[in-house]
Amino acid sequence: MTTSRRIQFGVFFQGVNFGTIWSSDRSGSQYDFESFRRIAQTAERGLFSAFFLGEGLRLREHFGRIHELDIAGRPDAQTQLAALASVTERIGLVATQNTTYNDPYDLAKRLNSLDLLSEGRAGWNIVTTDNAWTGANFRRGGYLEHADRYRRAAQFVVAAQRLWDAGADGVGTPVSVADQLVSFEGPAPLPPSAQGRPVLFQAGDSDEGREFAASSADVIFSAHPGLEDAISFAADLRRRLPAHGRAVDELKFFPGAQFILAATDSEAREKADWVTRAQVSPQTAIRFLEPIWGRDLSEYDANGPLPDIDPVVEEVDGQRGSLFQGRRALETAREWRDSAAAEGLSIREFVIKRSSLRTFVGGYSSIADRIVQYVDAGAVDGFNVSPYLVPEGLDDIVDGLIPELQERGVYPTEYVGSTLRENLGLPALGERAEFAA
Ligand SMILES: Cc1cc2nc3c(=O)[nH]c(=O)nc-3n(C[C@H](O)[C@H](O)[C@H](O)COP(=O)(O)O)c2cc1C
Repeated sequence: MTTSRRIQFGVFFQGVNFGTIWSSDRSGSQYDFESFRRIAQTAERGLFSAFFLGEGLRLREHFGRIHELDIAGRPDAQTQLAALASVTERIGLVATQNTTYNDPYDLAKRLNSLDLLSEGRAGWNIVTTDNAWTGANFRRGGYLEHADRYRRAAQFVVAAQRLWDAGADGVGTPVSVADQLVSFEGPAPLPPSAQGRPVLFQAGDSDEGREFAASSADVIFSAHPGLEDAISFAADLRRRLPAHGRAVDELKFFPGAQFILAATDSEAREKADWVTRAQVSPQTAIRFLEPIWGRDLSEYDANGPLPDIDPVVEEVDGQRGSLFQGRRALETAREWRDSAAAEGLSIREFVIKRSSLRTFVGGYSSIADRIVQYVDAGAVDGFNVSPYLVPEGLDDIVDGLIPELQERGVYPTEYVGSTLRENLGLPALGERAEFAA
């Protein structure tokens, strides 16, 4: 197979919210630097372009209580990434940081610092955060309406970029930002790194989220790993780019995915059966439905059909991410109920099936063949892998899948550059269409 296209990998290392990730004797814990060092160095051995950490500014809650089914508690992403910069050389270090609670001067400076200290390997995964409880940890309390979160995100990113650009003109260059939702006065605190500024990733799927990605992101971290879905998602985003003065190849697509691999297809299927059943317990399955239904469903039997009642729209309306809002929650609940009924699936079976949509299960060779189809379709530049188990989940990709992909000519055999921007194949800042006019 010859192709000029390539696929890349990032690792999205949540460390929390996944029931199986620390469950082996060799796993370590989410508080030990050693666990992170090992996973980042394994990813670097596999020539991954990026090591991502998610952000949670408050422990996850469910109806006002700590979500006790989660693995909870994670160290701050930027602190961990700064430490990892000293034990890695080429892999990008991407911090998920939200624009709803952070402040732009402070965050832009911290990201600039990570970018300088890692010699041009920093990335910022921009999120708006969609939950109701995080705001209670912050002075301003509450949280913004969905549309305002994206207005603030857009103003926030412009402000951060102005600060970074001013740094290129010299430390101390004055910057004044007076937008509706974002303002500060302050001299540029730092010079730029070797890649100019951190690479901008974006994760958020609503119409506003997509428009924001089209205007600002270098890479979109999507929730669309299925082939057909990935093709139509990329087409939608590429249609939006020209209106923002951007060329279609300036935005890269990295859907999140889980890989459960083994030497043979049947061995991989056995593993996947264990993983999905362990990840989706009867209680977890009920909890998966509850945010959509907006009510306590603990009386329902996970081995029975989906609830035949409609969601409580008032309780979930307005503030949450697009999936949870009013009409969409109603439609989603009805759609899920109908599709589970048509296939005769219980609640648990339905949730297992949904979670398997983002999971590649198979032998190394057959999954490599499937990835070649993605490469040929041109809708995916890389996959952001969430390992289901440390360390085996990533070892299988690096030692089993990557050699197969390299044999097929669709995976790099070395890092092409020293910065994250170079390794992702992004144009240098001065070469981007928006700067060329
Ligand atoms: C793939 C993906 C990863 C995300 N990771 C995080 C995260 O680590 N922390 C966070 O607060 N929000 C995260 N989010 C949530 C987004 O911040 C956003 O609030 C949510 O998707 C709702 O916006 P939307 O309606 O545009 O999708 C993520 C979203 C997606 C799609």
